[in-house]
Amino acid sequence: MQSTRSVPQSDSPVESCWSSAAQLLQHSTVRELLKVTEQADTISFAGGLPAPTSFPTEEIALATERVLAHQAARVLQYGPTEGFPPLRELLTTLMQARGITIDSDHVIVTSGSQQGLDLLGKLLIDPGNPILVENPTYVGALQAWRPYQPRCVTLPLDEDGLQIDGLEQALTNLAREGQRPKFLYIVSAFQNPTGTTLAADRRTALIDLAAQHNLLIIEDDPYGELRYSGNPQTPLVALDIQRWGAPRHVAYLSTFSKLLAPSLRVGWMIGPDALLQRAVQAKQGLDLHTGSLAQAIAYEACCDGLLERHTPSIRQIYHERRDAMLGALESHMPDDVRWTHPEGGMFLWLTLPEGLDSAVLLQQAIVRNVAFVPGTAFFANGGGINTLRLNFSHPTPDRIEEGIRRLAEVVNEGVRG
Ligand SMILES: Cc1ncc(COP(=O)(O)O)c(C=O)c1O
Repeated sequence: MQSTRSVPQSDSPVESCWSSAAQLLQHSTVRELLKVTEQADTISFAGGLPAPTSFPTEEIALATERVLAHQAARVLQYGPTEGFPPLRELLTTLMQARGITIDSDHVIVTSGSQQGLDLLGKLLIDPGNPILVENPTYVGALQAWRPYQPRCVTLPLDEDGLQIDGLEQALTNLAREGQRPKFLYIVSAFQNPTGTTLAADRRTALIDLAAQHNLLIIEDDPYGELRYSGNPQTPLVALDIQRWGAPRHVAYLSTFSKLLAPSLRVGWMIGPDALLQRAVQAKQGLDLHTGSLAQAIAYEACCDGLLERHTPSIRQIYHERRDAMLGALESHMPDDVRWTHPEGGMFLWLTLPEGLDSAVLLQQAIVRNVAFVPGTAFFANGGGINTLRLNFSHPTPDRIEEGIRRLAEVVNEGVRG
């Protein structure tokens, strides 16, 4: 009998059978980088990880115990695709606190907001369809949508978030080509990767434009609750609901990942009825439903007032870390380096002098046991060679000070050539 080991790889049924979507899948640069950088002696500004000290471990343990003691038969069983009904109900209350008035029919539970992104890509993008994305934008959204082959049209950002005139220009350009974008994707608060937040006047202008152009907006909001300074902003979906009585132009994604724990993989989507109905059908084919045990734990913990008690303590930890990073940058970076001043979230964004390549800098930084994500990963159509993303939620203030000092040495050497 012939050994299977002698079969050449090129004849492998797998290698010859990839779908065109599979051929477009790519490694996530950030995830690959994390493997190298999350070693104990490296000061990593690379990940988007919550601080381990921010996890409400005890409270999650107690919630799990209560759920299993009283509802095991329900939460260990298959559940509805739309989500664990008591959690959907509770989400309406949580959303009310963000100014978003919905009933539980307008919210479905997803396996993290990442799944919401994939579902929306699946439902909305055909190959070649234009979609509007911020430049730079969340790399996980680009990764989720790449297999659906959109044509990404990039929009300029500044410290107040998406520039509305840039959006208008893009809509005009597309209209000239006889095209309409499938949607605009925006991380409206403390954006990943830049940390910037869409200003209040731009929010109203955006909702006006959406109505005028019949534009669908995907508002991704994992960080909105993590504000350390400045004034709260109303989510776009809340403005949309105020105008139309129900979500019409905005599909809104959020998550417990940054407020409780990312491993729960519990997020949610709010949106127009038709979109949610199709998302449920698509989700049935993906995972039937988000794990009921995790949903029930999140529900139980939140019912007990965990978010109200816990969120202020997360804010306090990250506030201190953000200030530590801003202070260290001020003390150590050369004058011609610029950075954003986020009012919340987990990231800030550095722009190096023209001519410096942050990917080259990363190699030198890794030698000094410090890491970050080079900015190019976040640009849909290339660019951003002299930019980089820094995470301040995971390292402690001491490590932030030391890491920025080392990074500044690397930058200084780069500037001096
Ligand atoms: C902007 C943005 N959207 C979505 C996600 C994914 O979050 P989740 O853990 O809920 O899937 C992240 C995670 O970092 C993010 O930064």
